[in-house]
Amino acid sequence: MVTTPQAPAQPTVTQQAIKLCTHFSGYLATWVIDLGLRAGLLDELARRSEAISAGGLAEHLGLDPHYTRVWCRSAYAAGVLDLSDEQAYALAPHMATLLVDADGPNYMGGMAHTFVALRESFLDLRAFVKTGQREWWSGFDSEWIEAVGDSGQAYYRRILERVLPHLPAVHAKLEAGARVLDLACGVCKGPIKVARAYPSTTFTVVDGDAYTLEQARTNLARHGLAERFEVLHAPLEELALRDAYDVAIINISLHEARDIERVVANVRRALRERGTFLVSEFPFPETLEACRALPGQLMSGIQFFEAHIGCRLLPISRFVELLDKAGFRDLGAIEASPLHVVVHGTK
Ligand SMILES: C[S@@+](CC[C@H](N)C(=O)[O-])C[C@H]1O[C@@H](n2cnc3c(N)ncnc32)[C@H](O)[C@@H]1O
Repeated sequence: MVTTPQAPAQPTVTQQAIKLCTHFSGYLATWVIDLGLRAGLLDELARRSEAISAGGLAEHLGLDPHYTRVWCRSAYAAGVLDLSDEQAYALAPHMATLLVDADGPNYMGGMAHTFVALRESFLDLRAFVKTGQREWWSGFDSEWIEAVGDSGQAYYRRILERVLPHLPAVHAKLEAGARVLDLACGVCKGPIKVARAYPSTTFTVVDGDAYTLEQARTNLARHGLAERFEVLHAPLEELALRDAYDVAIINISLHEARDIERVVANVRRALRERGTFLVSEFPFPETLEACRALPGQLMSGIQFFEAHIGCRLLPISRFVELLDKAGFRDLGAIEASPLHVVVHGTK
């Protein structure tokens, strides 16, 4: 008997409605987390060993009891809080690690701030989708810049904890007091972690945005690290450094270069012989199909900001190809999380 392949069954209207409602509730949960961090609610719950009522939480933090009750119930609905029989709230398992420990490798609180701040792009795109207008970092609200810095720091912590153990020669150089070049350094929360992990290192950090560098200088001073950091305000395309660095790092930014080949060539020139380039990036899906998986859905959302500034996230294979073409050797790619891959190459 000949069997004909069956067309996949069409989903029902209800199934499709549930899919949309899942998106909408995730959007609301993002705002609940953002508000919980800003109001100090999540911090306070992380500090406590015992559960607490919404009223008790409001009183302790000097917040409005009604709004606090609404927040607690929403955070419970989102699975961020658990509720005891005595109507007392506590953080659900691992939420302190994921949402409050900003220095940890699993920190995701910055993602909540970033996705909330991404409204700026979506609001602008109401007009720009017709006009095609683009903007640059200098045109963005400080909320966006701070949120990206908050989110980016976990990438550096993962480089320290999950990537460098695979690159013992780089670890050894850092221990011995490497000169490090951090490109598109942002507000420097990440380079500060590397500097603290390796106290003999010295840094040159570069960014093209003046406001961002003001924040970076403040952060460096606050950590007592200003002396170990040279701060350069320059486009990466115009860097003319030569044979001076042992390690170059660029975190979630190489895809933003206006002339990406030129930036990679500039970095190679800036490195000493056997120097290492670490390209820490968002792995944009290699296939269209993979955009439907959770990391792909998130990347496809981030792509709106990238479009807004006239660039786009790229698949990891493209970074490997770029380093290869520029003459880097010993290429490799290390997955630090489903949203984070580090491509490395040696001069
Ligand atoms: C996504 S943020 C990442 C910042 C930082 N690496 C972090 O992880 O927090 C990108 C940064 O790259 C800078 N940038 C982007 N393209 C640049 C270019 N061509 N030259 C100099 N800076 C650039 C922006 O000003 C911004 O601060």
